Amino acid sequence: MNIRECTDADIPHLVTLWQECGLTRPWNDPEADIALARRYAGSTVLVGEVDGAVIASAMAGFDGHRGWIYYVAISPDHQGKGLSRPITAAAENWLRDLGCPKVELIIREGNEKVLAVYDALDYQREPRMLMAKWLVEPPAPSADMGDRLLDVTITYLEMTARPDRPMPHPPATEQPLSLQRLHEPTVSYYRYLQHTVGDPWLWWERRLKSDGELAAIIHDDAVEIYVLSLGGVPTGFVELDFRAMPTEAEVAYFGLLPEFIGRGFGPYLLQWAIDCAWNRSPAPEKLSVNTCTLDHPKALAGYQKAGFEVVGQETKQVPDPVRAGHIPKSVKILTPGY
Ligand SMILES: CC(C)(COP(=O)(O)OP(=O)(O)OC[C@H]1O[C@@H](n2cnc3c(N)ncnc32)[C@H](O)[C@@H]1OP(=O)(O)O)[C@@H](O)C(=O)NCCC(=O)NCCS
Repeated sequence: MNIRECTDADIPHLVTLWQECGLTRPWNDPEADIALARRYAGSTVLVGEVDGAVIASAMAGFDGHRGWIYYVAISPDHQGKGLSRPITAAAENWLRDLGCPKVELIIREGNEKVLAVYDALDYQREPRMLMAKWLVEPPAPSADMGDRLLDVTITYLEMTARPDRPMPHPPATEQPLSLQRLHEPTVSYYRYLQHTVGDPWLWWERRLKSDGELAAIIHDDAVEIYVLSLGGVPTGFVELDFRAMPTEAEVAYFGLLPEFIGRGFGPYLLQWAIDCAWNRSPAPEKLSVNTCTLDHPKALAGYQKAGFEVVGQETKQVPDPVRAGHIPKSVKILTPGY
């Protein structure tokens, strides 16, 4: 990774990186933050590039007493490769060169998972309380900033025994219905299914994956993708993920194309997939699934009806994936209340 100071041309890429990493907030205009940090001799914005693409960042500033590091980010495609170490070291070196003796950084509540990263980078946790006050009128959250936060409640469900019910009956259709497992699907076909089924419900995580990362998932033998077709036309798909443990399946994705919602295909496909998982040898010990308040309003009840039981719930905020540019603005969003 090549690390250097940010140039004008990097700014849009930095903003995208920060949005992808969930670092933008309605009250922080990223472009204004970059401009301010680049204006003064005591602060800078560093970028890390791989193959000409900006994939890492760190902002550093020295206040004459302590140095501060902000906006440490590694693009989701490059996380987990140890790249936070060189970009953070570059920010530390930049501060050290100014005579700065000690560096500090702030971790937002809710982002506790990065504590382990900074532990690995030799940062010490210090018993301090942080207080802050705006010295200018706080900026009003702008609708154009692309970083509205959505409140999302995620419900986790599990099933630890095969549900006691008869085999599901397919809905009556004029055209023949068929269920097929996809073997080594092309990334383009998988993206077609993901986007057509998931965009209206704001499924954005898989949109952040590169073609290589997606291929590694969907071509893994422990990932089973089944498509329900009507007259040869896909109506929906379900993705069973056994990667964590061969005896535990997660219903990672399940959904219908918008044209086929409300015609009985959903419960049939879900029950069929559940039976499919239980029919494996050795039989699974557990099936899990989660649904959230961005999903179809009947999704939770549908999973419960299919035999899943709620085992937990959490509420968090996620950046709006449409405003963040992950999902095209042209998509008709079906998420309730969006
Ligand atoms: C935080 C962030 C920059 C870390 O980058 P990363 O690519 O995920 O992490 P790295 O692969 O560089 O790991 C750095 C070190 O932390 C360790 N580490 C990472 N995750 C860990 C975990 N869950 N538990 C223990 N150690 C962990 C790694 O082993 C590595 O140590 P090593 O070099 O000694 O092996 C990145 O995840 C990110 O951009 N997150 C979103 C933005 C964010 O939250 N930024 C921080 C704001 S305060």
